[in-house]
Amino acid sequence: MTDLNIKIQEFAQLILDAKNIVALTGAGMGTESGIADFRSPGTGLWEKVNPNEFASIHSYVSDTKKNLDFMLEMGMNIFKAKPNNGHKSLTKLQKLGKLTGILTQNIDGLHQKAHSKNVVELHGTAYEAICMRCDKVYPITIMIDQVMSGKNSPSCEVCNGLLKPNAIFFGEPLRSETLNQADKMIESCDLLIVLGSSLLVYPVAFYPRKALSRGAKLGIINIQDTDMDYKAEVVIHDKIGDVFPLIVDIVKNEIKQA
Ligand SMILES: NC(=O)c1ccc[n+]([C@@H]2O[C@H](COP(=O)([O-])OP(=O)(O)OC[C@H]3O[C@@H](n4cnc5c(N)ncnc54)[C@H](O)[C@@H]3O)[C@@H](O)[C@H]2O)c1
Ligand SMILES: [Zn+2]
Repeated sequence: MTDLNIKIQEFAQLILDAKNIVALTGAGMGTESGIADFRSPGTGLWEKVNPNEFASIHSYVSDTKKNLDFMLEMGMNIFKAKPNNGHKSLTKLQKLGKLTGILTQNIDGLHQKAHSKNVVELHGTAYEAICMRCDKVYPITIMIDQVMSGKNSPSCEVCNGLLKPNAIFFGEPLRSETLNQADKMIESCDLLIVLGSSLLVYPVAFYPRKALSRGAKLGIINIQDTDMDYKAEVVIHDKIGDVFPLIVDIVKNEIKQA
């Protein structure tokens, strides 16, 4: 058996031995659906645009038009994206009774499109807009229609406040309700599976440590190495879509035979 095959077997065994599994997913989950991540060398968004000029709440308010152009381009790519084999395999795992829920940093809605349940979107969603004044939430289409018809500052139908996509921008706090949900999942899991995250953005960067301190085990699939690799039972530096479906197939076969 090759080293990779051994790791795939070990990863499957981790899943088979666990009772309460939570997946923590990042932008690396969406790359195989054609959505660029932030930090992959050569293709990550931060090699193309300056994060201080885009996607921060300050830049959005101070130069709304420029930020909207960027977001519209990114949004259109997200809206046409389809779940890949990684998303589908998580759903399969859940149907086998081996996945409690998913904590995702992604705003692309692809876990839901793949019919996974109990998905907590830590950074919000690209599919909604929110009024910055009264917090009214709209489908994103309302905001897109206004921008497409030439409005440079899309506004709330109720209070005329500025609309923004209902995703967390740099400089914005995460929602306390979402953080509480995430804490509960992290505190109760006995296996945390990290898929496609550099584990550099907080609070997510802290979740593996938190799970480990509660006695949970950690498995990581990510092309690049992470600061938590040394704490994981199994680390696979490969593409999710290439290895995770194989792992889930092993789990499925073992469960069938039992
Ligand atoms: N799809 C999306 O919704 C989307 C897209 C871009 C950025 N984001 C945002 O990215 C932020 C930052 O953190 P992050 O950790 O999620 O992203 P990140 O860009 O910091 O890290 C992504 C990691 O995924 C790995 N990776 C890329 N493709 C992979 C693949 N096919 N298989 C396995 N690994 C792969 C890379 O090596 C990298 O380490 C979050 O704030 C999130 O909101 C989301
Ligand atoms: Zn409003």
